Amino acid sequence: MKKNILITGGAGFIGSHLVRLLVHKYPTYHIVNMDVLTYAGNLENLKEIEAKENYTFVKVDICDFETVKQTFITYKIDAVIHLAAESHVDRSIKDPFSFAQTNVMGTLSLLQAAKETWGSDFTNKLFYHVSTDEVYGSLGEDGLFTEDTAYDPHSPYAASKASSDHFVRAFHDTYQLPVVVSNCSNNYGSYQFPEKLIPLFINNIIHNKPLPVYGKGENVRDWLFVNDHARAIDVIFHKGKIGETYNIGGFNEWKNIDLINVIIKTVDRLLGREAGTSQKLITYITDRAGHDFRYAIDSSKLKEELGWEPSLQFEAGIEKTVAWYLENQEWLHNITSGDYRAYYDKMYGVD
Ligand code: NAD
Ligand code: TYD
Repeated sequence: MKKNILITGGAGFIGSHLVRLLVHKYPTYHIVNMDVLTYAGNLENLKEIEAKENYTFVKVDICDFETVKQTFITYKIDAVIHLAAESHVDRSIKDPFSFAQTNVMGTLSLLQAAKETWGSDFTNKLFYHVSTDEVYGSLGEDGLFTEDTAYDPHSPYAASKASSDHFVRAFHDTYQLPVVVSNCSNNYGSYQFPEKLIPLFINNIIHNKPLPVYGKGENVRDWLFVNDHARAIDVIFHKGKIGETYNIGGFNEWKNIDLINVIIKTVDRLLGREAGTSQKLITYITDRAGHDFRYAIDSSKLKEELGWEPSLQFEAGIEKTVAWYLENQEWLHNITSGDYRAYYDKMYGVD
């Protein structure tokens, strides 16, 4: 079946994996990638598919309602998979305004453009909103986030994503816009901007720079390989029920410090350094403000109803990921020069 799909944020980390997957897998779909190319958006991530006939890139800010609406009309958009966002918690603590602008107002602009251009006939239309488990807040030692867990966001990032989720559901309840929402746990893999824990630490180990561990390193995150998130989005997009929410996660919890030790071990081994060489780089620093203690996702609904499961064990995923960053040091170098260096100095006060 032919379809024109608008993917927002396709030049970012998860978006670029999703665009690559869908462009290859569905030659009859036309994938329109809308991205304004912030510091986190990089067209280098999409080199492999940029010349494909079923792919188009448009440089548009999702907050620019008139241009967004015109894009819906020009490309006869049938469905949206919305990933564009400001996505880094630490940046949201420094600059909450840009998070409200992009994540809330940008989502509203897309919803309104869909509603106005689709009219009242929603046959074969879908607005798929990609969200995060951080909207649920923080867990203690036990329990998992389910789709029924009450929202309790703590960081400005989480609050802006929670707000956008509410707008998406409000458009369903008020205007019957066909929507689906997924909330995923922490992703890791290739093409992630090295401000997030895993690529930042790999990059710092390569360059023998300190590894800034927040607090005691005891916070827990639930890690999923990014390609498995993209596969889950594909499944939910095609088989998910309108109006439903699906949690996505790998039942793969790691205390930060344990994960950091796995990264150190893997990088040292793949670089041919003696085991434990980079251990000395661990540097405990002041904790992140409002640092959520634990995230853990129950994704059994997605497994039972739509048959999705992660394809990769964490050990294999981490090995692949470290190997990718070591083989793509030019990619790392290109994006860690310039503006990023100023950001790093400001955040960590070291270089
Ligand atoms: P990212 O920061 O790597 O990429 C975001 C992309 O959005 C970039 O290409 C950027 O240029 C683009 N963008 C930002 N503002 C824009 C605007 N105003 N107009 C158009 N494009 C804009 O983010 P990511 O990690 O790939 O996350 C993608 C989505 O998945 C986000 O909505 C995020 O909340 C969600 N999510 C991320 C994770 C994770 O672990 N990274 C986990 C769960 C959910
Ligand atoms: P991050 O990758 O920023 O994802 P999120 O905050 O969205 O979960 O951080 C993952 C965990 O690693 C989180 O508990 C914060 C911690 N962390 C550090 O200890 N040091 C760092 O420099 C960064 C970026 C994160």
